[in-house]
Amino acid sequence: MITNFEKSDKMIARAQELIPGGGHTYSKGLDQSPKLGPKLIERGKGCYVWDVDGNKYLDWAMGLTAVNLGHAYKPVLDAVRAELLKGSNFQCPSPIESELAEYFISQVPGAEMVKFAKNGSTVTTAALKLARAYTGRKYIAYCSDHGFFSYDDWYIGKKPNNAGVPQEVADLSLTFRYNDIKSVEELFAKYPGQIAGVILEPMEFDYPQDNFLHQLRDLCKKNGTVFILDEMITGFRLGYPGAHAALGVQADLTTWGKGVANGFSCCMLAGRKDIMNLGGINHDKERVFLISTTHGAETHSLAAAMATIKAVKENNLVERNIKMGEALRKGLEDGIKAAGLSEYLTVKGHPCWLLMQFRDAKKEFSDGFKTLVMQEAVKHGLLFRGTFVFSLAHGGKELQKTIRIFRKIFKTYKAAIKAGGYEGFLVGEPVKPVFRKFN
Ligand SMILES: Cc1ncc(COP(=O)(O)O)c(C=O)c1O
Repeated sequence: MITNFEKSDKMIARAQELIPGGGHTYSKGLDQSPKLGPKLIERGKGCYVWDVDGNKYLDWAMGLTAVNLGHAYKPVLDAVRAELLKGSNFQCPSPIESELAEYFISQVPGAEMVKFAKNGSTVTTAALKLARAYTGRKYIAYCSDHGFFSYDDWYIGKKPNNAGVPQEVADLSLTFRYNDIKSVEELFAKYPGQIAGVILEPMEFDYPQDNFLHQLRDLCKKNGTVFILDEMITGFRLGYPGAHAALGVQADLTTWGKGVANGFSCCMLAGRKDIMNLGGINHDKERVFLISTTHGAETHSLAAAMATIKAVKENNLVERNIKMGEALRKGLEDGIKAAGLSEYLTVKGHPCWLLMQFRDAKKEFSDGFKTLVMQEAVKHGLLFRGTFVFSLAHGGKELQKTIRIFRKIFKTYKAAIKAGGYEGFLVGEPVKPVFRKFN
């Protein structure tokens, strides 16, 4: 039973004095973790991680979905080491930039050109900039049902914690709902000829219904709007090369990141040449100052990307994980049913990225109950944050262990439901939404 977080608690308190937020994405914040849980992870190997107190966890979070082969996956590390020995940044582009571009384009239908960056926010923002330049329009529209696209103003401007974003900038972003084509039609009717680009994930935890993606693509085409699919999480995870391929739809531009470099910092903006090349220096149109960053093509990260994509392909990772995910879903659902919790706990989504949803005694969604499950998972050595993120390192043994542990967690959940709430069972506060106005 894991109960000691002494060093973790001390170190995170210090980190918060030194670093706003205590880390480098709000998704890793202290307010996203149960009180009885690890706050700092020291190392990982395969699908296991160790916190600073030496506790070992079976990892179902996998670096916010950025690690799809396993922590410290040897073929990726070997490629990185080999590249590192050559130096990492030069005055001219390095050959590996074109090598990776060539390979990426060969794997991704619809990618005629590609640009690399370090962060997902950089590439999604760049996609919208291109859309604006290509169309000469100012509005963009994003799907409000999807979790996150960027920390940049166009996205955060519409969130409760939008301090620092001028209202005029926020007003240029419009939102629509997933699987609600009417909500998109209404935008096009209200802003005729004014929407530059539409961005969404191909799917998050809901599958497209009634050909939603195809209808959206057609609407964009009809209205001269750039259709952008964000494959940050879904790319090289829900399908090969991405969810859009599995769902049979092609976008004008796509953005990639968490599935492409096994945790190293490499993201991609890819798509139609006539749009992408506006960022080039070999045309006579007005120039777009696209992505221009000193560190964007850091060579060892590109080597990591090349080795990762090859490993995903060679290991048939998507097919493998679909089977694993289906088995996990069945094991969890059987456990939920056996515990008589079907009205309170549900598992949904693509088998490669399953979401568990938590309801309270009144059958309303509950962060308190979610946190209780996270806390109980930690006790039994699982790092679980609401979704199940597979890697190549997760095997049958881990699957069985997880199902076994969740059966124990379900007993506690049942007791909390019977007691009328999580309060008597959870130590500390429930996790909080990342998007909130005040701490
Ligand atoms: C779908 C999606 N798009 C974009 C981003 C932004 O990526 P980054 O955190 O690398 O800036 C994220 C990150 O959570 C994401 O999940």
